[in-house]
Amino acid sequence: MSGNSIGVLFKVTTWGESHGPATGAVVEGCPPGIDLEEEDIQKALNRRRPGRIASSSPRKEEDAVKILSGTFQGKTTGTPISLIIHNTNVDSSAYEDIKDIFRPGHGDFTYFKKYGIRDYRGGGRASGRETAARVAAGVVAGKIISREGMEVIAYTKSLGGIAIKLENMEAQEITRENIGESRLMCPDADAAEKMEAKLEEARRIGDSLGGIVEIIVRGCPAGLGDPVFDKMDADLAKALMSIGTVKGVEIGAGFTVAEMAGSEANDPITTDGFLSNHAGGILAGITTGEEIVIRIACKPIPSISKVQKSIDVQGMPVELSIKGRHDVSVIPRIIPVCEAMANIVLADHLLRQKAIV
Ligand SMILES: Cc1cc2nc3c(=O)[nH]c(=O)nc-3n(C[C@H](O)[C@H](O)[C@H](O)COP(=O)(O)O)c2cc1C
Repeated sequence: MSGNSIGVLFKVTTWGESHGPATGAVVEGCPPGIDLEEEDIQKALNRRRPGRIASSSPRKEEDAVKILSGTFQGKTTGTPISLIIHNTNVDSSAYEDIKDIFRPGHGDFTYFKKYGIRDYRGGGRASGRETAARVAAGVVAGKIISREGMEVIAYTKSLGGIAIKLENMEAQEITRENIGESRLMCPDADAAEKMEAKLEEARRIGDSLGGIVEIIVRGCPAGLGDPVFDKMDADLAKALMSIGTVKGVEIGAGFTVAEMAGSEANDPITTDGFLSNHAGGILAGITTGEEIVIRIACKPIPSISKVQKSIDVQGMPVELSIKGRHDVSVIPRIIPVCEAMANIVLADHLLRQKAIV
């Protein structure tokens, strides 16, 4: 199975299944001399861990990370960094009943069609569990970009159709502080309360919800991104789209540009800089130095207890109600994963830019 790595000069490979002994990442290309301790990674993993809110999976994973290689006396050495997270709270019993059935919306059908064999326990490699490894690797990438003053912040923009309103927010801007206070990583407290109620209702009726996450990159210099196939927007879109449940990616004004005239869509350039940012910080695949703004659309979690129609491996029709420990929405758990993927793409392009100038 190829397709487990991302990046050119800064390269991340993840491995492991949901109900296997462990999951992890190998990070290649990290410069030497960067402070890196297990606690740094642990903090980020704790933000992704289930249990932050009642509607997240009741799987109680410690997500304790171990650095197996690539550091010495708390600093990176420039050699491959290997990170391991043991799966300690595995319960595969709920999957026995559906081991020969394809869950609608999940990867069961397509993995079976592709490989003819699949680890049905917990979704195997297609599980949200795989994203723990991305978050761990993303911390290493975050350290590289933060040395250059770059920061990635992601937050809940909408959930189950309830959207945040900037005018409702005291600060009227997105900061790590006003997101950090919210269990849903949503900076509008009023909207967050409504979202929590909606999640609770979905859980009660055995259903699930989707939403939109916005990712903002601040402090990114102009000039990152390699045209034509490795454009910054193309690489960010690929990295974010590679996360389970992500069905759409928008950069800057996104789909609304289709309704604008050129005179509205273009960001005027003055001696003081750009007057607007419909481009979302990227032109011709290269960063402009403005904020990079990306939104992703996440579909509802596929595993629901509401009765659904499907087929089994013999092609016979079945009706199923999925048991087990599932999230009601991928939000907020996907948010640290989005930050990690953006960190990884930015770190790679930063190192690539340094290689040519
Ligand atoms: C952090 C995270 C947690 C997830 N939790 C669950 C879950 O509890 N149950 C489930 O069925 N899918 C869960 N998913 C979604 C599946 O992994 C995803 O829907 C599946 O791999 C199919 O891929 P697709 O939705 O991109 O088509 C989660 C995804 C992420 C990123």
